[in-house]
Amino acid sequence: ESSIKVALLGFGTVGSGVYEVIESRQNQLRHLVGHPIEVVAVLVDDISKERKMGSHVFVTDDFQEILALPDLDVVVEAIVGVEPAYTYLSHAIDQGLHVVTANKELFAHKGFELQKRAKDQGVELKFEATVAGGVPIIGALTKLLQVNQVLKIEAILNGTSNYILTKMREEQISLEKALTEAQALGYAEANPTNDIEGYDALYKIMILTELLTGRKVNQNYVRCAGISTISTDDINQANLRHERIKHVGVIEISGEKVFSEVSLLTVSESHKLYSVEGVDNAVLVTGDLIGELVFQGPGAGKYPTASVMVEDLVDIYNPVSKSIKLVTKK
Ligand code: NDP
Ligand code: HSE
Repeated sequence: ESSIKVALLGFGTVGSGVYEVIESRQNQLRHLVGHPIEVVAVLVDDISKERKMGSHVFVTDDFQEILALPDLDVVVEAIVGVEPAYTYLSHAIDQGLHVVTANKELFAHKGFELQKRAKDQGVELKFEATVAGGVPIIGALTKLLQVNQVLKIEAILNGTSNYILTKMREEQISLEKALTEAQALGYAEANPTNDIEGYDALYKIMILTELLTGRKVNQNYVRCAGISTISTDDINQANLRHERIKHVGVIEISGEKVFSEVSLLTVSESHKLYSVEGVDNAVLVTGDLIGELVFQGPGAGKYPTASVMVEDLVDIYNPVSKSIKLVTKK
């Protein structure tokens, strides 16, 4: 029986999670896509590190060796930053490989180019994990809200920041201590500057804005603030007023006009983001027909992120969804 052959780029929090889910859900995956799914290779930075994976998996730090593998089908990317990821994924797409990515910094800056490339090559490029961790907001916006016009998005999009703000309030600990916890839990980026200075949420806002408007967003035109300046005193002052400080991204669309921003918002108990706590993300979507929808769930972490990436992988091959598409086409 032929298998779907996958190469993982990155074997950190997310990459190792994807590997574990594929290994532990073999029967279910075979049932869903009609073939076994096999991780045949892993790209890492440091090949001398100990890794928990089968001895049959080829481990390398040379991407050319991944591309040279015979019969590879999909590249699942979970490394960090725009480069070398952009170069790697461009080559993978040009070689006719499907791609699943979690790399929001890359996708915010180069998603437009990669999507065009994938379309030209007739391959799939899936990016659910780039926004809101385990919350399937990309799928919701692209598959479930096609007739509605989205007028507004208001969202908590950085799990680390929300976790830190929650811990500072509940346990009266410093931002630094709460950040150390978020790093240990696999929520924060290896370099947490992007989390606490707001850039990670900004990348997600850029991706959502581009998705909704079809227009590429220039990072320099979006105002961005992070949580790094917040003290427990600020949080306590807000608490006395029955308010909470939240790190929120906003997109407002009115005809051709688009406004995007990432900032700190003080919300009262009646606001839907008030009770979104810990590592959770929440996305409030206002559609012109449906009104307001709330999508909420774990915004970071190994298994929530691996979950949406493996769902993306299945979606590329799932014969049920493909056959439904065929029927509606006729
Ligand atoms: P980690 O730092 O835990 O892992 C990164 C992995 O990528 C490591 O295995 C590292 O190799 C490898 N790597 C880094 N640079 C290179 C390179 N130039 N060439 C080859 N391999 C490289 O990060 P995460 O798993 O947390 O995140 C991965 C990606 O997923 C990031 O883009 C992140 O923004 C995104 N993401 C993360 C989420 C999370 O909750 N953590 C959620 C959603 C998205 P080595 O092991 O040798 O160091
Ligand atoms: N560091 C990111 C966060 C990971 O905390 O939200 C999920 O994208």
